[in-house]
Amino acid sequence: MCGIVGYIGSAPHAYDVLLDDLHRLEYRGYDSAGIALVRDNGALVRVRAVGKVAALEEKLTKRAQVYAKLGIAHTRWATHGAPSVRNAHPHTAGAITLVHNGIIENFAQLREEVQKEGRMLRSDTDTEVIAHLIDMAYAQLHDLADAVRAVLPRLRGAYALLVIAKGDPKTLVAVRVASPLVMGVAADALFFASDAVAIVAHTHRVIYPLDGEIVVAKRTEGRVSYTITTEKGALRKHTPRVLKWDHTQAQKEGYAHFMLKEIMEQPHAVTDAMRGRLDSDNATARLGGLAPVEERLRTIKRIIIVSCGTSYHAGLIGAQLLQEYSGIVAEAVYASEFRYSNYLLDKETAVLAISQSGETADTLAAVREAKNKGVLTLGIVNAVGSSIAREVDAGVYNHAGPEISVASTKAFTSQLIVLVLIVLLLGRQRTMSVAMGKRIIRHLCAIPRLIETVCQHHKEIRAIARRYKRYDNFLYVGRLHNFPIALEGALKIKEIAYVHAEGYPFGEMKHGPIALVEPSLPTVVIAPRDSVYEKNLSGIQEIRARRGKVIAITTHDAVDIVKHAHDAIIVPKTLPVLMPLITVIPLQLLAYEVGVAHGVDVDKPRNLAKSVTVE
Ligand code: G6P
Repeated sequence: MCGIVGYIGSAPHAYDVLLDDLHRLEYRGYDSAGIALVRDNGALVRVRAVGKVAALEEKLTKRAQVYAKLGIAHTRWATHGAPSVRNAHPHTAGAITLVHNGIIENFAQLREEVQKEGRMLRSDTDTEVIAHLIDMAYAQLHDLADAVRAVLPRLRGAYALLVIAKGDPKTLVAVRVASPLVMGVAADALFFASDAVAIVAHTHRVIYPLDGEIVVAKRTEGRVSYTITTEKGALRKHTPRVLKWDHTQAQKEGYAHFMLKEIMEQPHAVTDAMRGRLDSDNATARLGGLAPVEERLRTIKRIIIVSCGTSYHAGLIGAQLLQEYSGIVAEAVYASEFRYSNYLLDKETAVLAISQSGETADTLAAVREAKNKGVLTLGIVNAVGSSIAREVDAGVYNHAGPEISVASTKAFTSQLIVLVLIVLLLGRQRTMSVAMGKRIIRHLCAIPRLIETVCQHHKEIRAIARRYKRYDNFLYVGRLHNFPIALEGALKIKEIAYVHAEGYPFGEMKHGPIALVEPSLPTVVIAPRDSVYEKNLSGIQEIRARRGKVIAITTHDAVDIVKHAHDAIIVPKTLPVLMPLITVIPLQLLAYEVGVAHGVDVDKPRNLAKSVTVE
């Protein structure tokens, strides 16, 4: 995920401060970095490098040490355009230089517009276009804050921007909409960052500007001051808060573990996964990454989804949805199985790889095997520019931001969102009606809010986790779209709590697992009120008849399930196809809390790796 930092102060330390701050943001994941400083004489110094911050430092030390009291810097996690020097931030257009964290949804249209004005774009990013727009306004208004303010109504999407101008060593303008930004307030300097981790090293007094607020930071006669206004210019007053975090806590934004932070980030991550991709008028999805193969996709009759671990569970749900809504025959296969099997592949088949890291050896090998057999290969990948992203014929990025905890959470839900978008696109090319497409889009838009509601049950789930932490075995069961969620819930508790668990389709209970049921084996039943409500209810009775404990993940209208379960976690309702996005959240939290109760290092469980690059 991109990280931005900025400094304006009375001492000429911008160079050192910003480089240190970039190091502090390294944990967020990045592929390139850059810095821009404005010297007291107004001259701009800008250096960018691919790779680590160390590579940037090396480039910088080749130059003389730069003394400046104003500067901005960036670590880039590619979203638009591959990692390269020309795509790295800061971006410059005329007098303006800026750094950006976020995604501009309407950048294609804005690009065309500035190109018509005769502007040359030198990068593939959505960011450079903002620099041009601000520079065009600056040429007329001659005031940096006014120029930024004039451009904001044109931008759709998410952004935190830090903007400086050549020739003005005394002004820094910062603004945010839906992307994080925090300002540190010290006596003789102001610090800006995407993340408080870069700030707490300098000061614990911070202000979090609200969406749409513009911070104008000025240095006059050695003193630093700031004003915060709304987009329309109304003055806003913020009293700085005092953060008591140390460096490590700040990296986790105060959460005890990255896993918990990533679980809680899901409302944001799923929003980013669908940002700018919903086309409500045509009841479909706009997926730029699939545009080059859109016509070929019309000829596809079968899709094999290949993936591993949690991504495989997303694939199982994706296959169900593809069959239901697009009439495409779809199946999910473990990548490690696919690569050694002899699948019949023809011109009407596509292979879709799902991978958070884009580097999983088995999934990559499956893609290569499919390519070797001449079929269309597609990808759903989180890490931009990764091997799978590069090797597939076309694909869609999750935009979930880097996932640091080994166990996948926000990558999973964002994969599900992308799968639904692909299903919308392929479904509408085939059998899906406008009404159905619109219905799915309407419910998709509400998902972030519903996930947030489930996250609010955290305490209640922690209490359940503490009650059940002494059990050595668990069963997880669900039907239809919630069967893969049962598998995912069981995987999570295995991975991070070292508790043995099995996921099963609830209907299979009688064919084996029921033999295990007794008071020492709790069963987690994922059973929102849906078309199989009665079946789930009888299943629960059968478990209870054998004195098994039942934890139900259900909806408020499943009255009898709530009544018969020993513990029930009530989640909000949405379309059955979207329910997995909701029902998985309590299972992530349950596994997390059992893991914590067992004293496991949940972010780095034993024997597991975040990116499995060997077979
Ligand atoms: C490892 C991780 C899992 C992940 C799986 C697939 O096993 O621990 O969390 O689901 O790899 O990774 P991928 O990056 O391909 O999604």
